[in-house]
Amino acid sequence: MLMPIDIPSSIDQRPVPSEWRDQLETVRLRIQAFQDRWDRPQIEQFVAADFLHLFQAISWVRETQTLIGNRFLEWGCGFAVVASIASALRFESIGIEAESDLIREGRRTLTEWNVDADLIHGNFLPDGSEDLADQSTLPSLGHPIESAYQHLGLELDDFSIVYSYPWPGEDRFHREVFEQFAAPGALLLCFCGPNDLRLWRKMGAADPARFQPRSRRRRDRR
Ligand SMILES: C[S@@+](CC[C@H](N)C(=O)[O-])C[C@H]1O[C@@H](n2cnc3c(N)ncnc32)[C@H](O)[C@@H]1O
Repeated sequence: MLMPIDIPSSIDQRPVPSEWRDQLETVRLRIQAFQDRWDRPQIEQFVAADFLHLFQAISWVRETQTLIGNRFLEWGCGFAVVASIASALRFESIGIEAESDLIREGRRTLTEWNVDADLIHGNFLPDGSEDLADQSTLPSLGHPIESAYQHLGLELDDFSIVYSYPWPGEDRFHREVFEQFAAPGALLLCFCGPNDLRLWRKMGAADPARFQPRSRRRRDRR
């Protein structure tokens, strides 16, 4: 079961360092320019997430919520902006992205901002999770690329926070995948539209042994 957690509207008063404000505005323009010329079928009216609000929300989560570990995962990281924010807020941050063009853009973000996060070119859906979808046409489905978790040497239940920006109509699917595969106590943060960030906690008892530092759990990288 997922328990919703109220994110207070006052988080928009939280300070964001001016360097980050500038970076987030610059990357917003970079994403816009990229979308305008990308030769892929895209969701109509794609709106970039509100990165400033996400910075404020993640820093609020860091300060106010019980965390079962320090690993943060961005599902479908695109330009890796949120993975970078999480890293700046001292999470061990990982992004998974199916599109190689976007992985390249994400790596550029990390380099330009001098941020430490792992970006994996792969599928964020754990093996077997596609069966939870009620429609075969959901955009998160059918990516012809392997699940990223084996490459990472981690499972979804090794993460303390998962962030996703579901395409329209698939927010329930993302929640169901999280509910089935995440660890009890883990948090799911979703960007559901401008001014609409939502947070849930998976209920149940966490197993602290799963949240040892990464080096003690990860298998060798390929
Ligand atoms: C709505 S965009 C969100 C981008 C970014 N996370 C943000 O918040 O701005 C969804 C992203 O997820 C990626 N994606 C969708 N399904 C995926 C999957 N199954 N595995 C990996 N990436 C996926 C898309 O390529 C796209 O970059």
